[in-house]
Amino acid sequence: MSTEVTRATFNEVMVPNYAPSEIIPVRGEGSRVWDKEDKEYIDFAGGIAVTALGHSHPTLVNIMREQAGQIWHLSNVLTNEPALRLAKKLTEKTFADRAFFANSGAEANEAAFKLVRRYAFDHFSPEKNEIIAFNKSFHGRTLFTVSVGGQAKYKEGFEPTPAGINHCDYNDIEQLKAIISDKTCAVVMEPIQGEGGVIPADKEFAQQVRDLCDQHNALLVFDEVQSGVGRTGTLYAYEQLGVTPDVLTTAKALGNGFPVSAMLATEKVANSMVAGTHGSTYGGNPMACAIAEGVIDIVDTPEILSGIQERHDLFKSELNNLNEKYNIFQEVRGMGLLIGAELIDSFAGKAGGFVSAAEKEGLFILVAGPNVLRFAPSLIIPKEDITEGFARLEKAVIQAIENTAAA
Ligand SMILES: Cc1ncc(COP(=O)(O)O)c(C=O)c1O
Repeated sequence: MSTEVTRATFNEVMVPNYAPSEIIPVRGEGSRVWDKEDKEYIDFAGGIAVTALGHSHPTLVNIMREQAGQIWHLSNVLTNEPALRLAKKLTEKTFADRAFFANSGAEANEAAFKLVRRYAFDHFSPEKNEIIAFNKSFHGRTLFTVSVGGQAKYKEGFEPTPAGINHCDYNDIEQLKAIISDKTCAVVMEPIQGEGGVIPADKEFAQQVRDLCDQHNALLVFDEVQSGVGRTGTLYAYEQLGVTPDVLTTAKALGNGFPVSAMLATEKVANSMVAGTHGSTYGGNPMACAIAEGVIDIVDTPEILSGIQERHDLFKSELNNLNEKYNIFQEVRGMGLLIGAELIDSFAGKAGGFVSAAEKEGLFILVAGPNVLRFAPSLIIPKEDITEGFARLEKAVIQAIENTAAA
């Protein structure tokens, strides 16, 4: 059997739930990636807000090699040192007292959603089981997480979905007031909606959500799967909102591309997950936790965190320059290095076209819905790569405008 594979192989052997681009990247270093034909790309996507320290970060490569030569996996029948060290660091650096490890954002959220119900069951009553989340939110692709997520398209065809979940508009406190009640066990929100269009929470709104949760003995869950690990300029975005959740989920950048996620919680809440209530075969394995520990050590330093704001300013000024020349965006927004540029109405639905044009010019960018270009580069992307990336983006914009005019 031939071991040669091409993009065509995807259509032959993979479940068609993705529609990947025609190129196959094979190598990455920092914020540059090369494909099979050795064409080079600048990475403004970061593997969808994952490779926060770029590709093949030397310290992380060393940590991975060292851990690989020691021990990979034990199962949760035994604990391990990297997991304990990682839990210590995450709890020391956040509001949380306890950590649960899993492998993906969806799994961390699944754990969080189970925990909030269990907590209400333990402390109040089985009837206090309603979860409120926000329209346009994204929390993962398991059945529970698509149900809590606020985008109907991800549930379609998979019903019946779990019951007891309600949605209202983000940044609209009156809508939340109208549906929250003593039957609510938790409100779940992203401090900045990522997939939903890069929409930051208003500070006042976040504080009012916290207050409403307290009034109704409901827990506040922050999904920081995308916004966490420095992405917004602080280790976690809640620090900037000035609102502390009871439960927080983190994934994506936590392993810089190695699958690992965590659910963090206060002690009182975490205590509802007693032995036997929840678990995961791989969650908290030594490989993943050693790498995540390395990521946290590097990211949570003043040099890295202060550099994020500088890069944010550079991205914003480059995007504003592009807009002055080509008039394509109605708004450029975001926090840290999670930036969204919403296309004007005449380009509605065309964000994907800009992404394809950028790739042809040697640049990876993302969409956040059909109308928003999203940028989530490495937190340490060199300034020269930003400048060069925008030179490529300008060419792509010209192309995308021409393509739209020709359509
Ligand atoms: C806010 C948020 N929550 C959850 C998820 C799901 O994470 P995963 O794909 O690792 O399951 C994502 C992924 O984009 C996300 O952005």
